[in-house]
Amino acid sequence: ARTAVVIPAAGRGVRLGPGAPKALRTLNGTPMLIHAVRAMAASRAVSLVIVVAPPDGTAEVKSLLDVHALPERTDFVVVPGGDTRQESVRLGLDALPPDYDVVLVHDAARPLVPVDTVDAVIEAVRDGAPAVVPALPLADTVKEVEPADRPGDPEPVLATPERARLRAVQTPQGFDRATLLRAHDTVTGDITDDAGMVERMGERVVVVPGHEEAFKVTRPLDLVLAEAVLARRRL
Ligand code: CTP
Ligand code: MG
Repeated sequence: ARTAVVIPAAGRGVRLGPGAPKALRTLNGTPMLIHAVRAMAASRAVSLVIVVAPPDGTAEVKSLLDVHALPERTDFVVVPGGDTRQESVRLGLDALPPDYDVVLVHDAARPLVPVDTVDAVIEAVRDGAPAVVPALPLADTVKEVEPADRPGDPEPVLATPERARLRAVQTPQGFDRATLLRAHDTVTGDITDDAGMVERMGERVVVVPGHEEAFKVTRPLDLVLAEAVLARRRL
């Protein structure tokens, strides 16, 4: 069972504020994308990484992969991304060679996921789950609201789901190849993760324990946290 990873890295990072595309912003001197690629290639099971680059940044991404030390056992492919995450993942899957039967999808924006989490996802797919997502219990209570027309206006609360039953999902999400390709071929609409598309087909999706360090770098404060985590690891 060969394993490939698609890394969507084509987003601009609007919520991070002005600057380079998010995946090319540096954490302690190294581009976030390189941290994310290393996190995937750290797994001995991973033999191919497909990076979906900002459309105007494929040459830059290729040269970054050339200059940074990466494991010899892993192959790298770079393709240009699309307007949405879903489209970018799809473009990555279009570059997937036939001989990979386990496929992971991992956000470049989660550069610090530990290898044990990656391996746990791969193992669960190999054990027969068609779709696997790492996730953590929530710290905050979550409320469903009626979104306001104007930002900042008070929003009526509709419901409070029982927190103990909720999970915040991370990446890498892992899939049986045929299941993920079928999801991307058949499911349309605004779905924010790949496992959500598999759910929409009525397929079984399971959750395995995620990791605090797999958090998504989204807003400026997340950069501070990511650099502190790296400093603690002395990278
Ligand atoms: N992504 C992508 N192609 C897009 C949009 C997003 O490949 N058109 C990727 C991002 O690069 C990121 C992952 O999807 O690795 C998760 O998306 P998110 O954290 O929302 O990143 P951005 O879309 O770049 O950030 P923002 O929404 O703040 O602009
Ligand atoms: Mg986004």
